[in-house]
Amino acid sequence: MNTSFDDWDDATVAATLAPPSPLPTPVAASAEPNATPAPALAPIRAADKRIVNGQGDINQLAPFKYPWAWEFFLKANRNHWTPTEINMAQDVQDYHHKLSAAERHMFENVLAYLTTSDILAMRNIGLAVMEKMTAPELQIYQARQVFEESLHTWTYQHCIETLNLDQSEIYNRYRVVPAIHGKITLANCRLEKILRANLDLTDRDTLHDFALSYLFFAGIFEGCWFYNGFSPIFALQRRGLMKGTAEQFQYIMRDEVLHAAFGIRVVRELMQEENLRLDPNAIAQLWQEAEAAEDAYAKYILRDSILGYSAELHIGQFRFIANRRARQLGLEEPFPGAKATLPWLDEQANLRKEKNFFETRVNEYQTGGSLEWG
Ligand SMILES: [Fe+2]
Ligand SMILES: [Fe+2]
Repeated sequence: MNTSFDDWDDATVAATLAPPSPLPTPVAASAEPNATPAPALAPIRAADKRIVNGQGDINQLAPFKYPWAWEFFLKANRNHWTPTEINMAQDVQDYHHKLSAAERHMFENVLAYLTTSDILAMRNIGLAVMEKMTAPELQIYQARQVFEESLHTWTYQHCIETLNLDQSEIYNRYRVVPAIHGKITLANCRLEKILRANLDLTDRDTLHDFALSYLFFAGIFEGCWFYNGFSPIFALQRRGLMKGTAEQFQYIMRDEVLHAAFGIRVVRELMQEENLRLDPNAIAQLWQEAEAAEDAYAKYILRDSILGYSAELHIGQFRFIANRRARQLGLEEPFPGAKATLPWLDEQANLRKEKNFFETRVNEYQTGGSLEWG
C-alpha cells in the first residue's frame, strides 16, 4: 500500500500507522448490563476546588474557582503559528555569509541550549505538574502549554534543518559544553524531585519542594532564562540579521510570557491556599544558582562579544528581569538596584511592531497581529 502521510482519511491513517495485530477472542457476556440508575451526586462547589490536594470531581470544568486560568487558555489560543510559515530564506544567506564567527558561535549555542530546554519544559508541565493539579481549568491551560512547548521544539528543529546545521552535534552540545550543561542540570534536578505520580502533597516538606520547583520553572527557567535567552538573537535582528529566526522567537516569547505569568499566579495562590511559606534560604539559593549558571552561560556564548551585545549586558539584564519576577511572586528582589541593560528588550519582543515592519510571515492569522503582550 502506498499511502502518503498527507492522506487524512481516518481509516487509511490507522492502517498505515498501526500494524494489525490479532484481536483477543471476545468473551461472551454473562449477564445483562447493569441498569442501576446513576446516583444523584452533589453539585460541585467552586469553593471546594483546590490547586492541589482537592477531593472533588475534576472532570467538570465549571463552576470556576480560578477563572483567570480559563482566560489564560483563551489568550494562549490567540497566539498560533507554525514554524514553516515564516520566511527563513534570508536567514540562510545571513548565517552562511554575513555572520561573524563570534555571532555564529553565539547563535548555535543559543539554539543548542533552547532545544534541550523546551523538552525539559514540556516534561515538567506535562509529566510532573499537570497531574498534581486538582482543578480542571488549571490542567486545561497546562495541556495547551504542553503543546506549545512541543511547537517550540519543532521551531528549533526547523531552524536547524533550514540552516543546514549539524543536527546531532547541536543536540549533543548540552552534554559536552559545561556552561550549557550547568543550566540544564539545575532544571533537571528540580524536575527529578517532583517527577513522581505518588508525590504526597499533604506532606509539608514535599509540598514545599513542589512549590519551589514550580516557582523555579515559571519564575526563573521560563520567566528569566527564556525571556532573556532570546535577546542575543533579537540583538542580531536589530541589525537586520537573522530576522526569520528572530520572528520565530518572538512567537515563542509570547507563549513564554504567558507560561511564566500563569505559573507565578499558580504558585502564589498555592502558597495562600496551603498557608505555605517558602524557606527564604531556599529561595536565596535558587537565585544564586540561577545567576551563577546564567553568568557561565553568557560568558561562553559571548566569549567574544558581538556588535551591540555582550556577556555583561546579558547578565545585567538577567538580574533586572529576576527582580521583576521576584516582585510578581511577592518576594524580595534578589538583586537590589539592578538596572535594565537592554532597555530595548521589552519593545523588541513585541511581535506586532516587528512583523508589520519586516513582513516576513507568509500567512497571517487574523488575530495574530492585534494583541498587546507584556
Ligand atoms: Fe517553550
Ligand atoms: Fe514555556
